[in-house]
Amino acid sequence: AGVVAVLPAAGSGVRLGAGVPKAFVGLAGVPMLVRAVDGLLASDVVGHVVVVVPADQVDAAAAMLTGRPATVVAGGADRTASVAAGLAATGTDAEVVLVHDAARPLTPPDVVRRVVGAVRAGAPAVIPVLPVADTVKRVDGAGTVVSTVDRSELRAVQTPQGFRAADLRRAHAGTPDPRTDDAGLVEALGDPVTTVAGDPLAFKVTTAWDLRIAELLLAGAGR
Ligand code: CTP
Ligand code: MG
Repeated sequence: AGVVAVLPAAGSGVRLGAGVPKAFVGLAGVPMLVRAVDGLLASDVVGHVVVVVPADQVDAAAAMLTGRPATVVAGGADRTASVAAGLAATGTDAEVVLVHDAARPLTPPDVVRRVVGAVRAGAPAVIPVLPVADTVKRVDGAGTVVSTVDRSELRAVQTPQGFRAADLRRAHAGTPDPRTDDAGLVEALGDPVTTVAGDPLAFKVTTAWDLRIAELLLAGAGR
């Protein structure tokens, strides 16, 4: 397969507080990780998905994904470790690797195609981004404003993030520091990371509020 996606879904979802791992929470009856896998496959540019779940959920996740070109493996203690476990399970024939949060179940296939297209066009690392709408300020420990950040040079970062497979493997080699995204590991190597347009629908379900928004969006779309 030319393009393989790693889907980290091994988090516990503390901030959502659903009582089950977040990726297994149903959105209009369909678990988030299943929606995320189907969104990747609907792009028609992803050949295989490696889904990374808590060790005691491997069999359950595999049953949910029957019939899809997907493999399920056990994750690690933090997101970076889970991605590394998924990366180890991607075949050596993968040219492009995407890393996509299971917690972004409504990501439009167009975003996936834009990211893969930019890697195919020669970029070693590509991330989908959105402009930041709010004014952003830096504060001290007491909550007093230190400065106002120039919003025009900030971007909010989404997934899937796309990489030439060899570059992502190099970035994950050894024992990398835990990071909240994979492009951060590539940046640490000094490699260029380029951006493409993200989409508001690629938002991450983090809190109960986000889950409610996702349910409302699906109801509005009749899905
Ligand atoms: N993730 C993972 N392995 C971990 C931690 C996180 O695969 N050890 C995954 C999550 O399942 C999620 C993505 O990384 O799809 C983004 O993480 P986040 O939104 O923080 O999810 P959780 O860690 O599950 O949530 P929380 O931080 O609220 O516990
Ligand atoms: Mg987390």
